[in-house]
Amino acid sequence: MELQIKQLSFDDEERIMQIISSAFAAEPWNDDWHDQENFHHYLLDLMGNDNSVALGLIAEGLLVGIALGHLIHWFNGIEYCLDDFCIDPAYQGQGIGSQWVQLVKEYGRQNDFHRLSLRTHRQAPAYHFYLKNGFREMENDVYFVLNCD
Ligand SMILES: CC(C)(COP(=O)(O)OP(=O)(O)OC[C@H]1O[C@@H](n2cnc3c(N)ncnc32)[C@H](O)[C@@H]1OP(=O)(O)O)[C@@H](O)C(=O)NCCC(=O)NCCS
Repeated sequence: MELQIKQLSFDDEERIMQIISSAFAAEPWNDDWHDQENFHHYLLDLMGNDNSVALGLIAEGLLVGIALGHLIHWFNGIEYCLDDFCIDPAYQGQGIGSQWVQLVKEYGRQNDFHRLSLRTHRQAPAYHFYLKNGFREMENDVYFVLNCD
């Protein structure tokens, strides 16, 4: 299957919503994106900033995967922090996600990115997917939260 990468814009919003809401509806995420206004704000957060990089994967003329993230210009290079990465469930389990990682990495190389980074869930199938696709775990890093309410 021929795969292509393209830069996404808000013209793609409806399809992005379809992919994200279906890809993250399953365990362990169980995300509920039925509120379209909320989803639009989420996409503004991820795609609407000067340092946003929103990439799409095209297969058979259709958008089937997304990589939404932002850049950080560290002293030692540019990090592309992936905030949302997924494949349309209808296209999962065929090796497309692995090829998508490689395409995004190649895009990063062409744009002088130093590295890709992301956060995921240790119990999610995606954890093993990332390890198999060359990501390494930063074992000394910890993700902290503090509730405001
Ligand atoms: C994680 C995700 C991006 C992986 O995409 P994918 O297209 O399913 O990935 P791949 O097909 O490359 O690999 C997934 C599985 O398919 C299998 N697979 C790979 N190539 C295959 C092929 N040609 N035919 C059949 N199966 C194949 C692999 O064995 C792999 O399973 P394994 O890791 O248990 O061995 C996708 O499942 C997804 O969007 N999940 C929901 C959202 C999510 O969790 N995103 C990440 C949050 S941080």
